[in-house]
Amino acid sequence: MKILGIESSCDECAAAVVEDGKILLSNVVATQIPFHAAYNGVVPEIASRKHTEWIYAVVKEALDKAGISPGDVDGVAATAHPGLLGSLLVGLTFAKAFAWARNLPFIAVDHLLAHLYACQLPGEAVLSPPSGEQHQVPEGSRAAYPVAYPFLGLLVSGGHSIISRVDNFDDITVLGTTIDDAVGEAFDKVSKYYGFGYPGGAAIDKLARQGDSASFRFPMPNLYKGDHPYDLSYSGLKTAVINQLEQFRVKKGAAKAEDIAASFQKTAVDILLRSLFRAAEDTKLSTIVAGGGVAANSYLRSRLAERKDLRCLFPPLELCGDNGAMIAGLGYQYLARGDRSPLSATASARVRAFKRSYP
Ligand code: KG4
Ligand code: ZN
Repeated sequence: MKILGIESSCDECAAAVVEDGKILLSNVVATQIPFHAAYNGVVPEIASRKHTEWIYAVVKEALDKAGISPGDVDGVAATAHPGLLGSLLVGLTFAKAFAWARNLPFIAVDHLLAHLYACQLPGEAVLSPPSGEQHQVPEGSRAAYPVAYPFLGLLVSGGHSIISRVDNFDDITVLGTTIDDAVGEAFDKVSKYYGFGYPGGAAIDKLARQGDSASFRFPMPNLYKGDHPYDLSYSGLKTAVINQLEQFRVKKGAAKAEDIAASFQKTAVDILLRSLFRAAEDTKLSTIVAGGGVAANSYLRSRLAERKDLRCLFPPLELCGDNGAMIAGLGYQYLARGDRSPLSATASARVRAFKRSYP
């Protein structure tokens, strides 16, 4: 079953064709980064206009690269929520029109669930496999890893930071989430303030490799004692790095950009891992599946690789950020089960109400 997946929730205009939820036939991501870079952030009106201009060509390229014509598509999936409303509507409406015109089943999917599905698509090796197992995708093979449920989901992106128990592709229970900024947002804001580059996550990741993470000791949020032991908070770290840098200096001398980046990144990852490891311990779940743009972070990956007792799976780098393949892959799972969305399905900017483990 070949599914066309369309993603347009933010600043990537993306489409992909995935077969049987696992086999990547094409994955086209047209990034709008150069159009938003001047503003150091995504401008919603520019984003939706670019999606409108590009969507036809992006979908056509995805079909061409997969070596198929529209008549070979068996179903269409598109992101419906959450995201920028104007941007979402472009991809969703295109997908619905495609499905209607060709009388194909259509499914509207959730962007966050799709990020957690991305690691089931082919790509990079699994980190820290148990008992030395190698989970490398064999050379030339497009087969993906089977990921057994339940697992702990670590969704880390520009808009979201969610630690969850994942029981199925459509069944997650939120254990902890950020009470203020998302982790990717903190990377982006620190980068914007210091002019490290845009988007901030990748710029800080690169800069930090040359820095000393012990140059500054930034504070950790004090969240662990309450009812929400797995929650996260990034606004305190952001304020410390941007407004109170000197107070947290450990090493004397001029503050180098690399050192600020490395110290900030270390604390950002420490905050994440403190809650994640606590959740792994309490739930006894030893498989962690990461997803979202921040899952590309090399320091986060290396820290998780140190935990030999946990099996940590990351999507291939090109599937961490927004892409159509994760939408097509997740869409297949619904369609194969017989689920369909009506063509009246519409977009919503807000995060869907997931189950929560606490009130
Ligand atoms: O998943 P994504 O493409 O879009 C959202 O759904 O938000 O994530 C984008 C976020 C941005 O905040 C970006 O700075 C961050 O992912 N990011 C990174 C890295 N690459 C992208 N953060 C840390 N390290 C990276 N290497
Ligand atoms: Zn995303």
